[in-house]
Amino acid sequence: MKARIAVIAGDGIGPEVTAEAVGVLRAVAQRHGHEFELPEAAFGGIAIDQCGDPLPQATLELCLAADAVLLGAIGGPKWSAPTAPVRPEQGLLRLRRELGVYANLRPVSVHPALLDASTLKREILEGVDLVFVRELTGGIYFGAKTRSSTEATDLCSYTVAEVERIVRVAARLARTRRRKLASIDKANVLETSRLWREVTERVMRAEFPDVQLEHLLVDSAAMHLIRRPRDFDVAVTENMFGDILTDEASMLAGSLGLLPSASLGDGRRGLYEPIHGSAPDIAGKGVANPFGAILSTALLLRHSLGLEAEALAVEAAVSAVIAAGLRTPDLAAHGERAASTREAGAAVLGQLGA
Ligand code: IPM
Ligand code: MG
Repeated sequence: MKARIAVIAGDGIGPEVTAEAVGVLRAVAQRHGHEFELPEAAFGGIAIDQCGDPLPQATLELCLAADAVLLGAIGGPKWSAPTAPVRPEQGLLRLRRELGVYANLRPVSVHPALLDASTLKREILEGVDLVFVRELTGGIYFGAKTRSSTEATDLCSYTVAEVERIVRVAARLARTRRRKLASIDKANVLETSRLWREVTERVMRAEFPDVQLEHLLVDSAAMHLIRRPRDFDVAVTENMFGDILTDEASMLAGSLGLLPSASLGDGRRGLYEPIHGSAPDIAGKGVANPFGAILSTALLLRHSLGLEAEALAVEAAVSAVIAAGLRTPDLAAHGERAASTREAGAAVLGQLGA
C-alpha cells in the first residue's frame, strides 16, 4: 500500500528516538512491499526558534493531509520559563485538537524479561495487560484560563457528546479484550465527573451490556493501579487524570521509555507518539530508549494503515530484542552494559530481517 506519514520529531530526545522509528517504518515498507512517504516538518520548541510558532501552518497542513502523524517529543527548559509568551506544549495541544484525535490509547503490558526492572514486586506485575483510554481534546487542558496578580483559574468542562464518544471507543476496545471497563473520575467532588459517570452508566447499559463496568475514584484508582494492576483491562478517564495515571502505569512496564501511544479520532488518521517527554537531561547523548517510539509505529501500522501483520511483526521484534537481553540505560541493572539508542534500533531492524 501507499501511505504518507508526517514525521515531526520535535525537541530533546525526540529526533533521536524518531530516527529509529522511521528506520523501522522503512524496513517494514521494504520487507512487505509498501511505499511509505515520510515527509518531515518542524514542531515544538525548535519551530518556535525558527518561526515563533510551535505548530507552523505548513506543519499543520502536512499533518492534516497525511494518513498518520509520527511525533517524537516536545519541550525543554529553553522554552518553559513561567513568563514565556509561547510554549511548545501549546503546539501539541493545538495539533491534537486540529486532528480531532480525542481518544488516546496507552497500552501497558509487562515483558516477562523485565519483571525485575520495575520498582514493584514481580508477583504483582506478572500478567499485567491493560490499556488506558485517555480523553485527549477536552477537560481542563482546553478550558479558559485567567491570570491576575492575585489569582489564576483553569476551567474544566465536558459535554455529554465528548463523554459518549470516548466511552464508546473504550467499550469497543474492551470487547476485543477481557470485556472489563474501569471508568475513572472524581465524582465525589467534581461536577464534570458526575456528568462523566452518568453518561458512562447510560451508554454502557444501553450499548455495551456485555462489558463489565466499574467506577473508580481517581485517588483510589491510583492506589489500585499499583496494588492490583492485573485486574485492569481497559480504563477510560478524562484528560488530566489520564495524563497522570499513565505516567504511573508506565512504571509497571519498567520504564516510561517503553510505552507507545495512539491518538485517534473518528477517521483512520491518527497521531502516534511515545508517552515519554523530551528528556532534555539526556538529549543528544544517544542513550534514550527508542522502544516507545518504535512501538508507536506498530500502533500506527495497526490503527491508521490497517496493517495488523506488520504491526505484530514490529511488536514481536521489540519483544525479541528485550528477551535477548538488550537494555538501554533506563532499564539496565547497575553495572550492566547499556545499549545506545542506535544499537537498540539496529537490533530491532535485525529482528525484522532488514
Ligand atoms: C503527555 C504529555 C503532554 C500532556 C504534555 C507534554 C503537554 O505529558 O502526552 O502525556 O500533558 O498531554
Ligand atoms: Mg504526560
